[in-house]
Amino acid sequence: MILGSGRAPGKVILFGEHAVVYGRPALAVPVTQVQAEAVVERSEIGAGLTIVAADLGETIAVRNAPIDNPLAAAARLTLVKFGLSDPDWRVTVRSTIPIASGMGSGAAVSAAIVRALTEAVNQRISESATSFQLPASDISALVYEVERLHHGTPSGIDNTVVVYGQPVYFVRGQPPQTFRIGQPFMLAIADTGIHSPTKVAVGDVRRAWEREGTRFESLFNRIAMVVETARSAIAAGEPERLGPLMDENHALLQEIGVSCPELDALVTAALSAGALGAKLSGAGRGGNMIALVMADSASRVAKALVAAGAVRVIVTEVADGS
Ligand code: PMV
Repeated sequence: MILGSGRAPGKVILFGEHAVVYGRPALAVPVTQVQAEAVVERSEIGAGLTIVAADLGETIAVRNAPIDNPLAAAARLTLVKFGLSDPDWRVTVRSTIPIASGMGSGAAVSAAIVRALTEAVNQRISESATSFQLPASDISALVYEVERLHHGTPSGIDNTVVVYGQPVYFVRGQPPQTFRIGQPFMLAIADTGIHSPTKVAVGDVRRAWEREGTRFESLFNRIAMVVETARSAIAAGEPERLGPLMDENHALLQEIGVSCPELDALVTAALSAGALGAKLSGAGRGGNMIALVMADSASRVAKALVAAGAVRVIVTEVADGS
């Protein structure tokens, strides 16, 4: 019998990655074509809580798992909230979100686990009058705690977007704001196939910022300006203005040192095939890039991206409440 289930979408950062770690704003949107899902069922008496990562063929006994195992951490932190320790439950996790590629897979898996366990706790105590609900802000905070384990100094943008499932204008330490999308627009999201741990890229940027503070602060300020202009263009329903802004943001990320030849090749291929703009998305050094496409150029751009080495291309529409 299913006791609870939970889901969360993937995400892409439209503008502002890396600078967001240093207090500048960033824009990100959910990508609902890819999802993480967790399902809680009863298991044998005495088995304790286990997590089955179905896609990886791994089973984790939460009571024995290392402190920094992210799946176990998401489960532990949730159960502590409800005063439970080790129920005989099995949580099966599945995700279609590419791992370590800037689409928020870690945060989405954690959010799905938190939601599924919350539902299971409520099912268990349904005879009593109390219901234990976690508001989105609490789920987001729990997921942030898990992100810190494998990320070091996450800005908090990933957990915010995947938990709220809304376009987000994000500034570290401030309550998330959603932003208006005046007119829907289309993105091609292409994966280099290179797994790039966020922690490594973020750590390299930190060391470079420590060496060359003034130069990096000025790069981050230029990115912040791009973000603000992009937000106005999106709200005004003028998404075609995003093309040059994406190109500018990509050039700034190159200067920061987080692009790589494979990402640059995909950006060039998308632009040559008619995309209005393109940039890396997320931590860089691999993972995904995004390109702004029109309905009539989307399939041409997608084909060009595959020909230039992309292992996967997702074409998605960005719209209000997407
Ligand atoms: O987790 P990713 O790959 O989408 O990228 C994280 C974005 C960074 O700005 C590089 C880091 C952060 O914590 O915001």
